[in-house]
This record gives sequence, C-alpha cells and structure tokens, in this order.
Amino acid sequence: MKEILTAWDGEAVLIRHDAQTGAVIIIGIHSSKFGPATGGTRLMKYNTVEDAIQDAQKLSSGMTYKFALADFPRGGGKAVIALSRDLLPEERHGLLMRYGSWIRQLNGYYYTGPDVGTTPEDMDVIATTGDPYVFSRTPANGGAGGSGEATGYGTYCGMKAVGAHLFGTRTLGGKKILVQGIGSVGRPLLGYLKSEGAEILISDVDERVANDYPEYAFVTPARVYQTPCDIFSPCALGGILNADTIPQLRCKAVVGAANNQLGTEADADFLARQNILYAPDFACNIGGALAITGMEAMGWSKQVAFEQVSRVEQTLTTIFTLADEQRINTHVAARNLVREKLNRIQ
Ligand code: PHE
Repeated sequence: MKEILTAWDGEAVLIRHDAQTGAVIIIGIHSSKFGPATGGTRLMKYNTVEDAIQDAQKLSSGMTYKFALADFPRGGGKAVIALSRDLLPEERHGLLMRYGSWIRQLNGYYYTGPDVGTTPEDMDVIATTGDPYVFSRTPANGGAGGSGEATGYGTYCGMKAVGAHLFGTRTLGGKKILVQGIGSVGRPLLGYLKSEGAEILISDVDERVANDYPEYAFVTPARVYQTPCDIFSPCALGGILNADTIPQLRCKAVVGAANNQLGTEADADFLARQNILYAPDFACNIGGALAITGMEAMGWSKQVAFEQVSRVEQTLTTIFTLADEQRINTHVAARNLVREKLNRIQ
C-alpha cells in the first residue's frame, strides 16, 4: 500500500467502505490547485482494492492533464466505486445516495459527473444527497445531460488534426476508422464520422451492437487490434495499448476517448517505433468534462461549449509539432505541454 501511495504525485486518496453493499468508494484527488477537483464516477467490479485505488489515482491525474490542456480552471479528481458483486437496483440506489452524502460532506473538495458504469440518471440520484457538487444530471432535473456526445465530438476533432498531420487533409471522408467500444462516446462519434463519409468499422465486447448498426462492418473483439485501418479509436476501457496489442496493430494512428490507453508510459515509444501516430488520450477526451462543466458551472451555451471542445484539434496539432521538433513521442510532448501550462498558472 505504501508503494501505491508514494508512486503517485497526487494530493489525496479518500477511501470508504460501504458496509451495506461491500463496495469500496475511492476518491482520487490529483490536484485542487487550479480549481476544485472534478471528474466522473466509475462504477464497476475490481479484482482488488489496490487495483481500484490505482485506477482512481491514474484517472484523477488524467483529469488534471485534460483541464490544464484546455486552460480550464478545474483540478483533477475521479471517483471509483469498486463493487465486489452484482447489486440489486435498490442496493445500488442506496449506495449512490450514501455516496452523494459523502460528496456533500467534502464540501466542494470534489465535484463528480458520470463515467464508465454511471449515467445522468445516476447523477440525479447522487445529486439528491450530493447537490451542488454533481454535474451532468438529466435535463429534467436541471442538468446538461450526458457527456458522451461532447466527448465524441472532441475525439472527432482530434481525428481531424491527425488527418491534417498524416494525410494532408482534415476531412475524414474515405478514411477507414475502427471504433472500439460503442457506448456513450462511441455512438455519437459514429454519427460525426458518418456525416463526413468515413468508412466505419465497429467493435464491442457486446456483439449485439452489430444489430444496431447493420450498415457498418462489425469486427469481433478477438480481431480488433489486427484489423487494418487508417485510424484505430479506442473508446472503451484503458490499458489496451500494450506489449501484446501494439505489435498486432495495422493502423496509421490511434485517436480515441478511452482514459489511460497506454499500458505503460514506455508504450508511447513502442507506438512511435511502429510508425503509429498516437493522439494522447487526455488531449482527445476532454470534451464531455469541459462542455458539461462549462455549461453548468460557467453558464456556457451548448454552442460555446462545442466551440471550446473543438480546440482539441489545435491542441493536438501543437502536440504533434512539438513531438516532431523535439524528436520525442507524443505522450511526452503532451505531458511537457501540461507541465508548462501548470507552471505558468502556479
Ligand atoms: N467521464 C468524464 C471524463 O473522463 C468526466 C466528467 C463528465 C466530468 C462530465 C464532469 C462532467 O472526462
């Protein structure tokens, strides 16, 4: 445990055991220096509490990087609700209510929103006890709704930067794009890609999604890494770019919304050596957090929010240029840019 805590440069890890469900709730506060720590709540099963703590740490670090790259005055936080078993709907409801009360006790140290395993409807529940520290409630409950559309839009804007850099054109028409994970982000992303005439391939661990999109080729999870494409877009869980998968990849670029895509930092070099342009995840996937937080906390209109999200394209262009000029990988270039921005506002 000591190693897990000392290996991380964040501010605090808050942990609490929920006796009624056996769930462990972990809130990672990476930084609250540049604004209140903000980030979604991930609710899923974990093998060990240590795994869940490390996930909360990494995910909250990612939120600091995202907000810094977007020059947005929020800090990095993230909550993980680690389940050890399936819950009945009423058990889950009770857990979310208790979680909301805890967030309220924290008195603004951490603001939450949705993430893998939680929805705007869940935010409504959490907000009954956790208001005003809960973003992304349903419009019926006064929130801005889900964050997936804006995250999908930002990822699409990121692909334009990759198009310009690799293919000399921002348009994605005719480009073969494989989206892994057809969930709250993947679905709207498909809409943007379709509007530009991209050649779309989809993959998901739930093979039933193929029925929702009969017009797109479905790639089974077993073949997702080795399938040739121009852009591979991970929009499911993290850790999928690693020593096992990278040698299989037959894409020219990786541009996706999943958090923490790299297995280890060294995998960014591995990708570069394979001549694959990697768009750092935290530069691509700010859309939802930025748009929702902007609309709910800063009074942005949806139009202003989406204009802000579209800056992902410029940020990635800057990262690619820095990486080329300094002969470093794109992940390191993005981290350097984050560091520079954080030092400037310190
Ligand atoms: N899931 C979002 C992310 O990973 C977090 C978020 C969504 C935060 C909506 C606030 C509002 O970036």
